[in-house]
Amino acid sequence: MNPIPKHIAIIMDGNGRWAVSHGRPRIEGHRKGIEAVENITMAANDLGVSYLTLYAFSEENWDRPLEEVKALMGLLVEFLELKRQKLVDKGVKFTTIGDFDRLPDVVKKAIDDTKKATANCKKMNLIVALSYGARAEICRALQHAIESGVKNVTPETLAPYLDTVGIPDPDLLIRTSGELRVSNFLLWQIAYTEFYFTETLWPDFSLAQLEQAIESYRQRERRFGKTSEQL
Ligand code: IPE
Ligand code: IPE
Ligand code: MG
Repeated sequence: MNPIPKHIAIIMDGNGRWAVSHGRPRIEGHRKGIEAVENITMAANDLGVSYLTLYAFSEENWDRPLEEVKALMGLLVEFLELKRQKLVDKGVKFTTIGDFDRLPDVVKKAIDDTKKATANCKKMNLIVALSYGARAEICRALQHAIESGVKNVTPETLAPYLDTVGIPDPDLLIRTSGELRVSNFLLWQIAYTEFYFTETLWPDFSLAQLEQAIESYRQRERRFGKTSEQL
């Protein structure tokens, strides 16, 4: 059996469908989704996961109706302000990946304040992908590497320029809501990640489901290109 995953990444999908199925506006699905963010963050922390990366807002999500984008940004600020102290108390260090410059100033400030407050936390790293797109991340990294004088581009020389510098690749990627796609998330980093898909909509994703995903992961044989006999 594999040990518990060191790094779990989650594509938190299905908030809108959750709302529709309860006869509520989409934003109420996002509000419920934030409760799941808190619960799953605390659960992962208790289980001994070292890195939890949550896909909260993609580069492509900027094209949603302005009202929804504004509401999502508002909920994010609210979450960071209300939960900052809890993150500190639980030893959760908060960071982000994605195109930070594109975020509204209030969001930038809430993020910066939370990063500062949790900078010395050591138990778990919570990495939130915001305004994140993997293709853009790889292009930014390559541009930055070239400008920094990197002559010989290899996976090892490029990795320090990715948003995920210092973070090990995810062991397990979970996507909720039944969609079987990656939607421009961590394309570089998931080269050898194990995938787990569930029909459950994100607001309904619970500790029991997280444990089920981890159990599935633990039973897999990760071969990294080798044969079973070589392991
Ligand atoms: C995921 O839920 C949250 C974000 C992408 C911000 P969705 O809003 O994509 O929910 P569905 O896919 O429409 O149900
Ligand atoms: C992916 O969900 C992005 C996040 C969960 C933040 P989407 O709902 O945006 O993905 P698609 O458009 O269905 O692929
Ligand atoms: Mg969706």
